[in-house]
Amino acid sequence: MSVVDSVIAAADVYKKGEVSKAIDLFEQVMAEHEEELIALKKRGPDLRLFHRQMGKVSALRQALVQLSSGSNTIEIDVSAYFGRHPFRIKMNKEISQFASSWKTTTAFDVHLASAIKHFGADFKSVFGSTTWREDIAGSVYVSAWMVTDAFEMAAALPDSPKHVINIGCGMGFFDAIYLGGRSEPASATLIDIDETVQQSVSEVLTLNGIENATFQMNADNIPYDKVELVYTVRSCGYLYEIDAYDDVFRALKPGCRCLIDVTHDRREAVVKYFEGLGTRHNVFKRSADETVLLAFDFV
Ligand SMILES: C[S@@+](CC[C@H](N)C(=O)[O-])C[C@H]1O[C@@H](n2cnc3c(N)ncnc32)[C@H](O)[C@@H]1O
Repeated sequence: MSVVDSVIAAADVYKKGEVSKAIDLFEQVMAEHEEELIALKKRGPDLRLFHRQMGKVSALRQALVQLSSGSNTIEIDVSAYFGRHPFRIKMNKEISQFASSWKTTTAFDVHLASAIKHFGADFKSVFGSTTWREDIAGSVYVSAWMVTDAFEMAAALPDSPKHVINIGCGMGFFDAIYLGGRSEPASATLIDIDETVQQSVSEVLTLNGIENATFQMNADNIPYDKVELVYTVRSCGYLYEIDAYDDVFRALKPGCRCLIDVTHDRREAVVKYFEGLGTRHNVFKRSADETVLLAFDFV
């Protein structure tokens, strides 16, 4: 059986509720094919869909196993699928509870609607409903979601930027995945206007051993000479216009990459705007139908 078929078979067993049998199958596939998977991943973007699917199912499976064993901390490690560096995330029950009840006016509803649309079926097959507001459900849900983001963005992320900025960081999950697991994590400025996320960001960073990141509610005091990556996921260019951070984008230096997850209706204007700042751009597709991931390199 090919590696793809083996993984799909394991996922099917998992979705039927035969969790321990699926886990055995998964372990077997991972052990047999780890090298092959990493080599395949390096070959090109045609395999991204497959990896994303695997990552999502694997994240659900790992979170479930840990939760059913009564563990308070959930650790999702998807290193096997990335050739570059470990992508992992740790969460605890308190963060999960916060994630489940987090509301940021319309921002959250947009986010939730998108999540239900893209992961609702998986979630339902595991839990029998989409009542993800329950504590445990929240953890599993967020894990799967974040792993999917990480897969989709992996190809566009530079290996070792000096300093990164995340605009609209939410609870800092993506930052934990991207910055955590490195021997020398980049320093980071995490921006969000919602002060209620601050505690979660700080706990997520601590759980993942990230010491060199600061959370702030504005774009003050950014060390532009060091900034080599700016990313914004489901925030600037999705919930609001990019000119909200015009001062930041204009201050970026040659060598910096800017990754923006924009709605399709804004795409043309955003490309034009960044071309005006002297950048080259690339397009990375995301699975979320309503956005496209654009990468702008300052030259
Ligand atoms: C849909 S959430 C996305 C969070 C995170 N990037 C993720 O993908 O999980 C949007 C976030 O943008 C934040 N936000 C909304 N307007 C903002 C602004 N003007 N500046 C910074 N953050 C903002 C919200 O508070 C919220 O945390």
